[in-house]
Amino acid sequence: MKVVFIGDIVGNIGRDTVKRLLPWIKDKYNPHIIIANGENAAGGRGITATIARELFEWGVHGITMGNHTWDNRDIFEFIDDEPRIVRPSNLPHGTPGRGSMIVKGNGKELGVVNLIGRTFLPPAECPFRVADEEIEELHRQTKCVLVDFHAEATSEKIAMGWHLDGYASLVVGTHTHVQTNDARILPEGTAYLTDAGMTGPRDGVLGMEKETVLRRFITGMPGRFNVAEGKWTLNGVFVDIDETTGKALKVQNITVDEDSWIAV
Ligand SMILES: [Fe+2]
Repeated sequence: MKVVFIGDIVGNIGRDTVKRLLPWIKDKYNPHIIIANGENAAGGRGITATIARELFEWGVHGITMGNHTWDNRDIFEFIDDEPRIVRPSNLPHGTPGRGSMIVKGNGKELGVVNLIGRTFLPPAECPFRVADEEIEELHRQTKCVLVDFHAEATSEKIAMGWHLDGYASLVVGTHTHVQTNDARILPEGTAYLTDAGMTGPRDGVLGMEKETVLRRFITGMPGRFNVAEGKWTLNGVFVDIDETTGKALKVQNITVDEDSWIAV
């Protein structure tokens, strides 16, 4: 089973980029299933029902979230009724929505788990323990499981990769918006990438206008961060999974931007 995971979609440039490049992604990677992190899709903060619907219409099969899950109030209206969106599974009990799902696409079934880290992020349940529980449950239905670990610290993400080696098909980090260059298949067959990176404006600071961020760093004065404008970048990861074992056969970074991409 071939799967493409698209790194954090940021704002309208991120969404436009996904729309423009999905035909290219489908042509180049032939994915059965496409998953995207959408927690920054609405102006950098959360997601709306309209945006989620658009992403599904364009060909995304499932959406993962993160620490910005609740930033746009719109989500409270639909997350409980939308089986194609997951928020971090290790949020406190009673939180709306779900933390794992089975995504169907092109005759294939992929289990997806969303988790959030505990380093430099608000308190959450143990992501390692919750990962074990979610994967055990998903394995009743499919051997192929993707884990989006939305976390700040590379060490926490690497630790999760080792923890799930042999249990998940792909462990991919999100949240830092900077793609790492460490995609590989771990010894027991789990594909791993510390961070998938970002899909959005290339020349800001993690997708936000660089002027406002610089002002905050230099003067300490508060200011509202808006999504940057200008050229785009698309980051993600491709993984080919052996469906009989759930182990990864191939993993590869996807990284293109407005200057390097050649339309087909
Ligand atoms: Fe995040």
